[in-house]
Amino acid sequence: MAGGGGLAKSDGDKNYPGNMTVFVFLACLVASSGGLIFGYDIGISGGVTSMDPFLIRFFPSVHAKEQEVVDTNQYCKFDSVLLTLFTSSLYLAALVASLFASVITRKLGRRATMLGGGVVFLVGAILNGFAMNIAMLIIGRILLGIGVGFSNQAVPLYLSEMAPAKMRGMLNISFQLMITVGILAANLINYFTAKISGGWGWRISLGLAAVPAVIMAGGSLFLPDTPNSLVARGKEEEARAMLRRIRGTHDIGLEYDDLVAASEASRAIENPWKTLLERRYRPQLAMAILIPTLQQLTGINVVMFYAPVLFKTIGFGGTASLMSSVISGGVNMLATFVSIATVDRLGRRKLLLEGGCQMILAQLVLGTLIWIKFGTDGVATISRSYAIGVVFCICVFVSAFAWSWGPLGWLVPSEIFPLEIRSAAQSMVVVCNMAFTFIIAQIFLMMLCRLKFGLFYFFGACELLMTAFVYFFLPETKGIPIEEMDRIWATHWYWKRFVEGNGGRRKVQLTSSSNAV
Ligand code: BGC
Repeated sequence: MAGGGGLAKSDGDKNYPGNMTVFVFLACLVASSGGLIFGYDIGISGGVTSMDPFLIRFFPSVHAKEQEVVDTNQYCKFDSVLLTLFTSSLYLAALVASLFASVITRKLGRRATMLGGGVVFLVGAILNGFAMNIAMLIIGRILLGIGVGFSNQAVPLYLSEMAPAKMRGMLNISFQLMITVGILAANLINYFTAKISGGWGWRISLGLAAVPAVIMAGGSLFLPDTPNSLVARGKEEEARAMLRRIRGTHDIGLEYDDLVAASEASRAIENPWKTLLERRYRPQLAMAILIPTLQQLTGINVVMFYAPVLFKTIGFGGTASLMSSVISGGVNMLATFVSIATVDRLGRRKLLLEGGCQMILAQLVLGTLIWIKFGTDGVATISRSYAIGVVFCICVFVSAFAWSWGPLGWLVPSEIFPLEIRSAAQSMVVVCNMAFTFIIAQIFLMMLCRLKFGLFYFFGACELLMTAFVYFFLPETKGIPIEEMDRIWATHWYWKRFVEGNGGRRKVQLTSSSNAV
């Protein structure tokens, strides 16, 4: 049947010798700190924009509207283009930066890209912490965005290239784990800084972004580059030594030859962007666009960015709102471990299908709870037990995302691109992710004001579509060596029509080179 037919068989996998080494583990741990800077950004702005002193200083009109008597329409009280621009400008900057970052990851390597990203991010954090006016605030956000664009381009590739195939899922998800740690840290920091009397707590919240930046920039000074990237840049001897080191064995001939073959195919390509548009790469192009886009259409960032605002909307007090977002942040982090523990055993598809169904259910119940209380005019006060029900539904939704589309939205793209288009395709992933993060951040408050409770049904419908997409179109990638991923398309009921006749090209190279060992 269609969906099942997409599964690539894992028997016949080439098992390269070698194991998971402490060296790889540490390198991946340091690299995944790139997730911290992304997560910190996601988690910090919602809380800051719900702090009165911050609003009074930078967005006085929004603050005045928020103070109006309770019978104003709750759905619309935070609807301000300027306020959402504060949150979303970062993602626009990240989008543009990732286009440049693709050239840097290819020419200078993954490590240099992370280092550059960390430094720019640090400057942005300092500017934001000391912001005296809106301009400083927005310029700071743009620099943070550039840092995020660089790191999201380089880190997932770095992790997938360093990891042995058997543990690639687990190691790659350390990036997502760090994102969730960053979000939770930001939520907690906001909870405490909001209480600082004197009204300058927001400066600490924004300025502390410097900490993950220093970790990432400092860490990447000590990181080795991936063997794939070293081979691609002509540093063959270094690459061979690195492969021996990270696999903990001298028996690396098979894997090394496959890397060289992939690199030769990659060198023959002049313009990776143009190549990506060729028909034979249609499956990869479709995934590079759809996976990040659909990840954002789950509506996750409505919760991540605006949880405090959302909770205030349904009548929670200031501290209660921040506390509830700490709870959803904690659930987000803990649930990521489920994915880490199961992704290389259960595979990617099972997690995505289960997570998708759970998210649909949660959105339906959430929308209905809000409909019953707030109706269409948005006026209500809710009881404590009702509020607990709402927070519970949000947690059910967040946990499903955290073991499915959250980590896999980064993992799957980073493992399916052949080396010759890998940097360009990854940058397409970051561009689409950031574009839709920007769009959702920018229009959410407006959509809430117009669609009201229907907004949750809208996201539920998106989740239904994406679950069907996984079922029919996403082949399983578990356990397949990254430079051998081509074959999942050749055996897929739909995608095979694009690769037939071309699929054999690299396969022949790979087989002949491995025979030589
Ligand atoms: C997504 C972010 C999201 C985060 C939540 C990431 O995978 O790309 O947009 O905020 O997960 O944990």
